[in-house]
Amino acid sequence: MNKALTVAILGATGAVGTQMLACLAEQEVPVGELRPLASARSVGKTVVFQGKEVAIQEAKPEAFDGCDLVLGAAGDDIARELLPEAVRRGAVAVDNSHAFRMDPQVPLVIPEINADDLSWHQGIVANPNCATIIGLVPTWPLHKLAGVSRMIVSTYQAASGAGEPGMAALEAEMKALVGGDSMPAPQAFAAQLVSNLIPQIGGEQYAGYTSEEMKLQDEGRKIMHLPELRVSCTCVRVPVLRSHSESVTLEFERAVSLEEIREALDQAPGVKLVDDLGAADAHDRFPMPIDTSDQDLIWVGRVRRDLSNPDEARGVSFWCCGDQIRKGAATNAVQIAKLLCS
Ligand SMILES: NC(=O)c1ccc[n+]([C@@H]2O[C@H](COP(=O)([O-])OP(=O)(O)OC[C@H]3O[C@@H](n4cnc5c(N)ncnc54)[C@H](OP(=O)(O)O)[C@@H]3O)[C@@H](O)[C@H]2O)c1
Repeated sequence: MNKALTVAILGATGAVGTQMLACLAEQEVPVGELRPLASARSVGKTVVFQGKEVAIQEAKPEAFDGCDLVLGAAGDDIARELLPEAVRRGAVAVDNSHAFRMDPQVPLVIPEINADDLSWHQGIVANPNCATIIGLVPTWPLHKLAGVSRMIVSTYQAASGAGEPGMAALEAEMKALVGGDSMPAPQAFAAQLVSNLIPQIGGEQYAGYTSEEMKLQDEGRKIMHLPELRVSCTCVRVPVLRSHSESVTLEFERAVSLEEIREALDQAPGVKLVDDLGAADAHDRFPMPIDTSDQDLIWVGRVRRDLSNPDEARGVSFWCCGDQIRKGAATNAVQIAKLLCS
């Protein structure tokens, strides 16, 4: 990490790309040259990095000449087209899109869980889906404790999970609601989101489950090296600007006490335990998206027995929240990049 790196961000103007600029500086990645890349629409605009304005360039194969590291923050098609070009030109790419996640030649990595998988990368490393990261970071220490055999998850996903267009849509709807104006027609989501919940993220993929719901199963199995893990997930878009929340119920192979579970969570890297229903201040009682936005930890609370499990000692339910643009995307990618470069 002593060498100054030439770093490109593919999709530097979006929600994840913008956050990557901040994460690179916070995590002290030695950037010698930054190349912010986006569509032709953004040429002429600039981003600010380490106090200096840097011109956005159009994302074309030649833009990766001489790059050491590419951070992918664009859609699947663009990643599929351009990241192999970057690797051909000698760069290592860490991608946030879905394009390479389930490719058996590509490691899918959450550093707190499977950093060892970075050893077999062939130029591209995939960053998992944001809801996968937020659910798995606290699940992993409990798996190490008692062996997780089954996960039941409901997600409450922020509008910014759909990028800048998602945030803009919710903001416009909130403005219309407060101003008493007519609601804008839904664009980023299937329906109006303000004053509503939308139980559909992604298209139908398998047996009535959406693509987002199946990611938690498929990616979770790959990351935790648990090909038989049983997962059932329901993903819901909620009218929150930033930070996803999840209700998680786990079934274990072995009996484990709540004290052991709490201790494992308390000591787990990347996790903050906030679990005190009796605390005077609501902000200290349980995780809430308003408190977990713009920071890097996954907050966990409401840790309790799963009363529906016939063997109570083998079940737990908890609630967790995390900033999906940071740990669910940019922070995780920059952590991976640091490991690759070290
Ligand atoms: N938002 C999240 O919470 C989140 C979390 C985890 C993973 N992800 C994934 O991260 C990726 C980026 O998501 P986002 O939320 O940041 O999306 P976004 O806000 O919509 O940003 C998309 C970016 O892609 C660029 N882009 C669009 N068309 C392009 C083209 N033809 N060539 C080059 N660049 C192009 C855009 O540039 P212009 O401004 O020029 O159009 C913009 O910089 C997606 O794959 C998403 O699934 C997102």
